Amino acid sequence: MTSIFRPAIDRMAGYTPGEQPQDDGWVKLNTNENPYPPSPKVVEAIRRAAEGRLNVYPDPHATGFRKVAAKLFNVDPEWILPANGSDENLTVITRSFCDADDAIAYPYPSYVLYESLAQIQGCSIVRLNLNSDWQWNSADAERLRQSVRVFYVPSPNSPTGNVWSAEQLSQLLPERGILVLDEAYGDFCRVPHRGELLRNDLFDGRLIVTRTFSKSYSLAGIRFGFAMAHPDLISGMTKVKDSYNCDTVAIAAATAALEDQDWMLQNRAKILATRDRLAAALPAFGFRVDPSEANFLWTTHATGQHRELYEQLKQRKILIRYMKFPKALPDGGSLDGLRITIGTDAEIDRVLEVMTDVVQSVS
Ligand SMILES: Cc1ncc(COP(=O)(O)O)c(C=O)c1O
Repeated sequence: MTSIFRPAIDRMAGYTPGEQPQDDGWVKLNTNENPYPPSPKVVEAIRRAAEGRLNVYPDPHATGFRKVAAKLFNVDPEWILPANGSDENLTVITRSFCDADDAIAYPYPSYVLYESLAQIQGCSIVRLNLNSDWQWNSADAERLRQSVRVFYVPSPNSPTGNVWSAEQLSQLLPERGILVLDEAYGDFCRVPHRGELLRNDLFDGRLIVTRTFSKSYSLAGIRFGFAMAHPDLISGMTKVKDSYNCDTVAIAAATAALEDQDWMLQNRAKILATRDRLAAALPAFGFRVDPSEANFLWTTHATGQHRELYEQLKQRKILIRYMKFPKALPDGGSLDGLRITIGTDAEIDRVLEVMTDVVQSVS
């Protein structure tokens, strides 16, 4: 049968999200969720919202949430755009700024959803290859900066876990376009910013910062994120988003989560301590671990048997992420490795407990 889809959709493979097993008993360390529950104040806010007015549409501008977020990031509420997960804002940005003859760039290896967004939009995507220290070549960055409409950069980056400084990021600001700083893991980094990047002259008012509640706030199941940018950018993007993109329950949950900073910070501290413990323990099993400022570790093994290690762990009901990035190496080869989300101490103990067996089985 002749396809009735747009050719751009026929051509694309589609983004494959991480596995979400629906049965119990898994140590789930594959999609960078928080192993701890959300604040009890969030659960109470959800209950109250559910008992409230679910028969009417939500506030299309999530006014209450924007006020709380604005205060935390030292901006006015007009600088905030809530979304149904930060992925939704990435879609809104792509649809707002990119026509078919425009190009999007992103560092590579990184979050490959940006490629799918470009493909859906029918525009082109270019990769800025990172070297083995996760840095880019300045000449390559400069060449891309001159030609692309949107540059997506996660910092901390996934899966590598590193951050780039404001000066480095500013090298990626497109000459005639937008720099998107995807801070999905921003709360985990050593010095989380509180809005100062948005006012930094280096970015010429053309920086959009995106944030999520799926990681530091333990709310991946709720779907909520927000973008921060100059009000001129936010008001244009508001025309593109769905009218009621965030539901009443999610708005209530996210607002309560932001208001309980202590809860988030306590979980953050536990996760960082567990991360450092795992990073210190893995080399004894033959792993090389990259320094991380996020809630996950990128690691490679001396045997290079990354897929097999992933499979062996999976057989023991431990789910981590095997990742392979074609054409990421200078010789055109693929780069692969394992990304391990930081779980509870007990979950990480379980990983370490089975690791001798797992490594032996692939050697
Ligand atoms: C870099 C990056 N950006 C965005 C997201 C998506 O966040 P959300 O759950 O809010 O859509 C993820 C999720 O893994 C991510 O790794």
